[in-house]
Amino acid sequence: MRVIIVDTPEEVARTAARRVARAIDRARLVRAVGDRGRAATAHGHADAPTAVLGVATGSSPLGTYRELGRLARAGEVDLSGVAAFALDEYVSLDAAHPESYHAVIRRTVTEELGLDPGLVQVPDGTAADLEAACERYERAIAEAGGVDLQILGIGTNGHIGFNEPDDHFSKGTHCVDLTESTIQANSRLFDSIDDVPRQAYTMGTQTIMYARMILVVANGEAKAQAVHDMCYGPVTPACPASILQLHTNCVVVADEAALSLCE
Ligand code: GLP
Repeated sequence: MRVIIVDTPEEVARTAARRVARAIDRARLVRAVGDRGRAATAHGHADAPTAVLGVATGSSPLGTYRELGRLARAGEVDLSGVAAFALDEYVSLDAAHPESYHAVIRRTVTEELGLDPGLVQVPDGTAADLEAACERYERAIAEAGGVDLQILGIGTNGHIGFNEPDDHFSKGTHCVDLTESTIQANSRLFDSIDDVPRQAYTMGTQTIMYARMILVVANGEAKAQAVHDMCYGPVTPACPASILQLHTNCVVVADEAALSLCE
């Protein structure tokens, strides 16, 4: 795990966006000649994605998405053919609800980056058969040739996606009960805490760990404990993000406040 410390949230966004751009360029080259592209084409995608991003919601990566959109408009990175898979979605929240992750991803990723909406997927939070929907999502990721770069934020309790602290690490995409602290943290986006869904779908910890590269962005003092435990604590499902220490290509970009508990 490589930790990059910068002064401000703006610098986090610029540093992270440049790394995302480089990862997309690299994936485009590798996919043009390698197995990932062949895997996606073999699954019937006439236009196999040129690169595949895993994308997080939350406020942490918003600046990174904005900066990446700016780089694309300035012609400094080519985002054509880039596919994206959202990390998670609330259960039973209509896709039309402004705080559904379908809506959030459309506003902050698809539109901001100018991606083809047909190449952006979010778990179906309203599916009647939850298990089948999770399996479909995992299959879609595999058929796209896997995730080249997973962008992550981190919850104040150390969660990634909606993988909450637990006594074991999760595997594939699955349905979770949100913890009270997450419901509380996310209530700022809803009219009242009673409107916050109690359950969500999330890529599993294993799904996340399969990404070829992982980029975590974190800002502010509220994340200091979680960032410390992610980077320097024991690897334990009590802090799901700590497993990222075992990933072979994980970069954390954080501001001084988020790293204030790290020596
Ligand atoms: C939500 C999302 C996570 C995100 C976390 C932190 O729970 N499911 O993917 O990382 O919030 O959000 P923020 O970046 O707003 O602090």
